[in-house]
Amino acid sequence: MRIFAALSVAALALVCLPSNAQKKSASPHKAPKAQLAPPQVALTPPMGWNSWNFFAEKVTDKDIRDSADQIVATGMKDAGYIYVNIDDTWEGERDSKGVLHTNSKFPDMKALADYVHSKGLKIGIYSGPGSKTCGGFAASLGHEEQDAQLYAEWGIDYLKYDLCSFIPEVMYKQAPNDPAARMKIMVAAYDKMGKALKATGRPIVFSLCQYGWDAVWEWAPALGGNLWRTTGDIDPHWDRIYAILSQQDGLAKYAGPGHWNDPDMLEVGNGKLSLAENRSHFSMWAMLAAPLLAGNDLPNMKPEIKAILTNADVIAIDQDKLGRQGTRAYSDGEVEVWTRHLAGGALAVAVLDAGDSRYSTHPFHLNLAKLGLHGSQEGTNLWTGEPITLTDHMPIEIGSHDILLVRIAKPK
Ligand code: GLA
Repeated sequence: MRIFAALSVAALALVCLPSNAQKKSASPHKAPKAQLAPPQVALTPPMGWNSWNFFAEKVTDKDIRDSADQIVATGMKDAGYIYVNIDDTWEGERDSKGVLHTNSKFPDMKALADYVHSKGLKIGIYSGPGSKTCGGFAASLGHEEQDAQLYAEWGIDYLKYDLCSFIPEVMYKQAPNDPAARMKIMVAAYDKMGKALKATGRPIVFSLCQYGWDAVWEWAPALGGNLWRTTGDIDPHWDRIYAILSQQDGLAKYAGPGHWNDPDMLEVGNGKLSLAENRSHFSMWAMLAAPLLAGNDLPNMKPEIKAILTNADVIAIDQDKLGRQGTRAYSDGEVEVWTRHLAGGALAVAVLDAGDSRYSTHPFHLNLAKLGLHGSQEGTNLWTGEPITLTDHMPIEIGSHDILLVRIAKPK
């Protein structure tokens, strides 16, 4: 369910808030000190799988169990994929005491959580601050503490909290003509759930899904947010993936251990993405220190998709302990060169051909000085596993939408 189209004008108004208004409104919402304690979760970007990108509203208890089984059987668990996240459409009705029940697709959430935990995995769930989720199911408005306690009782380890109906129902109703006031209302709603999760005493990853509005990266960490969406929804088309990538530049300084920019879940293996596109998408999400939440059909995963999702060298870039997000060093035509500083002084270099034809790489020559490097560099090509020497002005030809990803252990 995409966010209601009717809201697009309102959304634009919010996105276009003057930046001083954003800053002014963000500061009063600094969370109390207790909330700023060192995060115990998401010290590296969360890795796992989420039901939405493939199953959407059709997801069932069986799909979650099968996916958990596959995460173990395919070696994804060993590669670091730990969270099995149920997205929208698990919710049923509230009873007379306000307790939320699951719908018939999820007969017993506690039993499902126990099953996922029995595999050595963790389980995530989805809600939002409005009365309804994006899919029109019951959300947490007025029941935040109750829902957080319920999640903790079930053994939930991760919550994705999606704005959706809160926008018209609360923000626009309470402050129709005041974008700054609407923002305060939204921040307070996320703060409320952040506190409710904390009060459970259970370490629960808190994922803010509000599409990157109102410079969420500036205020989410103070509310206990471990990750926050930086854009609208991803879909399995190169143009969308590349558009999202292009919106990440400038956000690197907000990411770090315990708090990450989230350019949305992976589409690797979905739709008609070519292998090159899958590789590039995965590589660039690793360069961005993005959460790696696979979103494909695990029981029917092709070997070449599994090989991409479990490439340990690429995952090591994403999960690097330093937690510094990569940045675009320069672009030349449709070729972009990104770098990411890694623990121990290592450097990852990605050369991406975002263009539609292989001719877009001609005549691309690598400029090492623009990467802060001097002279030839010994590295490893992370998609072939072969050693590679990068020399200044070397010509590099890369296929359309493909990538060269190199780790330089000792950059000079
Ligand atoms: C929004 C979110 C998606 C997904 C759907 C579910 O569109 O951005 O990631 O959670 O809602 O309805």
